[in-house]
Amino acid sequence: MSGKNGAIKLVAGNSNPALAAAIGDYLKTPLTKAVVRRFADGEVFVEIQENVRGADCFVIQSTSAPANDHLMELLIIMDALRRSSARRITAVVPYFGYARQDRKPGPRTPISAKLVANLITHAGADRVMTLDLHAGQIQGFFDIPTDNLYASPVMVRDIKDKFDLANVMVVSPDVGGVVRARGLAKRINAPLAIIDKRRERAGESEVMNVIGEVSGHTCILVDDIVDSGGTLVNAADALLANGAKDVYAYITHGVLSGGAVARVSKSKLKELVITDSIQETDAVKAAPNIRVLPIAHLIGEAVARTAHEESVSSLFEDLPPKE
Ligand code: R5P
Repeated sequence: MSGKNGAIKLVAGNSNPALAAAIGDYLKTPLTKAVVRRFADGEVFVEIQENVRGADCFVIQSTSAPANDHLMELLIIMDALRRSSARRITAVVPYFGYARQDRKPGPRTPISAKLVANLITHAGADRVMTLDLHAGQIQGFFDIPTDNLYASPVMVRDIKDKFDLANVMVVSPDVGGVVRARGLAKRINAPLAIIDKRRERAGESEVMNVIGEVSGHTCILVDDIVDSGGTLVNAADALLANGAKDVYAYITHGVLSGGAVARVSKSKLKELVITDSIQETDAVKAAPNIRVLPIAHLIGEAVARTAHEESVSSLFEDLPPKE
């Protein structure tokens, strides 16, 4: 495939080969031949095995666990492309790791999201494309164009297929996620509730105050990340204790570290729906109440529009079909 900036090359790191292959299928463009492996001591070795001179290159790599390895792969692949005279390099980072440290919550702490933005830029990225950034303002950490895509159109389509919207209430599991949850609630014309977590005194456990009348409703929790699963499972318990009929969750990035999959499986959550921004593990595949929504068509279409210098934002009014 060719765009306005030369032939398109899709280069994948090792974080999510399934998603990279699906994006390639959507674009009817095979992945560029490249070796991305380790030296015996663990250092990353990269060799691009096709000519990329003058090409519009898209490097597909989530900085998911192991985050440091995947980040280094992304940086080194871009360095290889830059030194091979690629015309333009877009870092396609469906899951942007290190995003949760985006400000200094206390003295002597880093702003890791800014450091990672600097690394990506210095390695040679001309543009960045990502999905549901933990905080939209991280785009401002880059001085290069940054497209933050939203999974919400894919989620809305699924929710409309699966639920009787008359009884649905969208819930933000914390105050920080209200804007995201409100956006989804608006798209399906559903009311919004908020969970306010408070620790009254140091050493006491958090109290979950549910703001909104959830009794009798099917509650859909909306968030960007499920990591340990603690936020999600506690929120589901609080909603059920307040009379919710049942609880589902739509969360973009299934980080699901440690015992998270087991925690979610054993919880009272009817279903957790995540996207494949992070490659699903065998545990996720086997979990009875976790389902994965594919997003390759969303990212693939955004890549195509970027390559043809077309609007990416209009994609969110006019989502292409999955296949
Ligand atoms: C926090 O601000 C995020 O939006 C998520 O709510 C959080 O990262 C989830 O983490 P965990 O699953 O470990 O509770």
